[in-house]
Amino acid sequence: MPAAPKTDSTPTLLERRKATLGSHSPLFYDTPLELVSGKGVWLRAANGKRYLDAYNNVPHVGHAHPAVANAVSQQMRKLALNTRYLNDRVVDYAEALLATLHPTLDRVSFGNSGSEANELAIRLARFKSGNTGLLMSDYSYHGTTITLAQATTGLTTSEPRGENVRTIRIPDATGLDDAATAKLLATSLAEVDAMIASLQEAGFGVAAVLFDPLFSTEGLVKVPAGYIDGLVQRVRTAGGLYIADEVQSGFGRVGRLMWGHELFDAVPDIVTMGKPMGNGHPLGATVMGAELLEAFGAENMFFNTFAGNPVSSAAGHAVLKVMADEQLMPRAAANGALLKRELSEVVAGNARIDEVRGDGLFAGMRFTDPETGEADPATAKRVVEAMYRDGVLISRIGRNDEVLKIRPPLAFQASDAEILVTKLGRIIAAL
Ligand SMILES: Cc1ncc(COP(=O)(O)O)c(C=O)c1O
Repeated sequence: MPAAPKTDSTPTLLERRKATLGSHSPLFYDTPLELVSGKGVWLRAANGKRYLDAYNNVPHVGHAHPAVANAVSQQMRKLALNTRYLNDRVVDYAEALLATLHPTLDRVSFGNSGSEANELAIRLARFKSGNTGLLMSDYSYHGTTITLAQATTGLTTSEPRGENVRTIRIPDATGLDDAATAKLLATSLAEVDAMIASLQEAGFGVAAVLFDPLFSTEGLVKVPAGYIDGLVQRVRTAGGLYIADEVQSGFGRVGRLMWGHELFDAVPDIVTMGKPMGNGHPLGATVMGAELLEAFGAENMFFNTFAGNPVSSAAGHAVLKVMADEQLMPRAAANGALLKRELSEVVAGNARIDEVRGDGLFAGMRFTDPETGEADPATAKRVVEAMYRDGVLISRIGRNDEVLKIRPPLAFQASDAEILVTKLGRIIAAL
């Protein structure tokens, strides 16, 4: 049947979206952006305009990377089914992935998203510890399941906080001198002690602490040296496990390191991953030691239909290969350092912005009101919208949405950094 000609009453794509996905399904920007294609770090919109993607970590090695697209389509033409048959793709990929992690992290259970990875991690921690208590950052997000919704502190959820959940404020030493940092470290670890005691007194005990090693949702806070190791040591003494959520911080985001948790001495008991893993193909994973998986597997028939299927494994393995072939980690280290240096020049002397935060190819800039020192989300939003109008995609994080979030695909180049810095510099100067 030929399509009906468009009239004034033909619903727009936005109206059709609301009529099917609901009016609360989130969209970026005051005027939502309709995208039709991407290549590398550049996106093409329906109106023909090009945008520099300085936000998305899902297209990790670049939008529409031919190596990943070919790996997926070739495997899709060959074999795509569940994982209860022997197939070399998933084993090849598991070996390659585990080779990037500490030797004690030698088993992987694949999944389809970060939420699934974290849900399984919590299940494993409950199994191993015999406890149910969770220690979470007081401004964080780790996924969509009921367990995770009850532990979500950084987004609106209708679920009340789980009775088994205690929250801790992740200390931010940005701008503090040594004495103030030492004081902050002591009070923050005392809070950890108090929350662990509270979980124990309530009879939950401690199953795990779960956090993102870069503290992205929190606004890329700078934790005092010794905090993470002190936190993990306390959790372990209480019988709990350390779960590192690498959904945002993993896969070379830090540039000089493959994993965000490598910023600290403590080696996690469980590592979870998602977003960048499949370059857009839905893929997640929960990594742990052999002893834990063997014990859990002996008592639980655990099976996840799509997890680690040959197509997903082909996507994930292709991402690792492209990262190596194109030297994306050293490039992220170099371009991240360049970006930070140039952004620091842009904000130098600006009373609204303290300093450039973040690590590797992940930068943040926190806006405050110069008069009151209070968080200034309105200005951060104005900057994000102005960058959008100027053809560069960034976003916001932080407990008040007052921190710019600059987290491009790893394929970002020095020339892209120059474009971003020039435009951002102009916009900030005009504030
Ligand atoms: C740190 C972190 N963990 C977990 C998740 C959940 O991942 P997914 O949306 O793939 O379920 C997110 C998503 O934004 C995240 O940022």
